[in-house]
Amino acid sequence: MTYRELSAQPLAEDDFGEFLTELNHSLTGGHRNPNEVVLETLQQLYFGRILSSNECRDLPAAARATLHSFDPRNITTEPEYYSEIEVKLYAERKPFIWLWQMFDRSPVGQNALLGHRFRRLMAPLIFKSVGEYFKCWHNVEWSFGYNLSFGDNVVVHRHVLLDDRGGIEIGDDVSISDYVNVYSHTHDIYEISRVYNLPTRIGNNVRLTYHSTVLAGCQVGDNAMVGTGAVVTKDVEANHIVVGIPAKTAKIKNPTSAGATS
Ligand SMILES: CC(C)(COP(=O)(O)OP(=O)(O)OC[C@H]1O[C@@H](n2cnc3c(N)ncnc32)[C@H](O)[C@@H]1OP(=O)(O)O)[C@@H](O)C(=O)NCCC(=O)NCCS
Repeated sequence: MTYRELSAQPLAEDDFGEFLTELNHSLTGGHRNPNEVVLETLQQLYFGRILSSNECRDLPAAARATLHSFDPRNITTEPEYYSEIEVKLYAERKPFIWLWQMFDRSPVGQNALLGHRFRRLMAPLIFKSVGEYFKCWHNVEWSFGYNLSFGDNVVVHRHVLLDDRGGIEIGDDVSISDYVNVYSHTHDIYEISRVYNLPTRIGNNVRLTYHSTVLAGCQVGDNAMVGTGAVVTKDVEANHIVVGIPAKTAKIKNPTSAGATS
């Protein structure tokens, strides 16, 4: 599917560009601690400006708790509690992950025009690899980030969960619709503390449609399509359209017909 090209008014476009250029420079220039850049950026997004320590001291305790929580060194995320986390790999990404998540929840977080550009800037700092023309809508979550790779022309829609605990590899020209869940870890049915990390792969030109789920370790073949609400519990063959719980083949696409990503 081809998207319409949209833009804001000239002054807003200038300010969006300036914000992202400055942010990119501060985060990747190597001259600033990313934790401090994130703290200041979130203060500006939520409070309009950077507050001095004296100003912070005079605020009510709840506001001070909010300000402390803008600093990635003062927060924890769920994946940090997982025992198999690669602490160094996660720590390198944590400020960027926190900025992405808090940007989405800020007053500008639902602005897709700015959000697509912001997330394209942040994605290479967080994920294992990101191909060309990555497009991501708001409220997307993942586990570690460093175990998640995207090919070229991938679109991730709203409220998607990509649990890359055991690794998720996403091919080229993939569309992931609203509220999709892709997992790469599961738990033993008798002993919940026993975790199985199983790499999950989504092939090229795959469509995971609204509210579908792919369970850990499943391989979804090239050109396959997972129907709305389906739960994939086993590998999906290339070109197959699967529906239902557990997902079963409903149709097989003609592999010679051109497939387009929506
Ligand atoms: C899987 C899907 C593509 C099938 O579409 P289709 O090829 O036009 O199939 P049909 O509508 O002819 O349905 C065939 C049968 O499968 C059933 N079916 C269709 N979608 C189903 C689904 N998601 N789950 C369970 N059954 C489904 C139909 O009820 C019908 O059953 P019947 O033969 O007993 O009447 C479609 O239902 C779907 O899930 N689309 C998702 C929309 C989408 O593209 N979203 C992404 C946009 S970003």
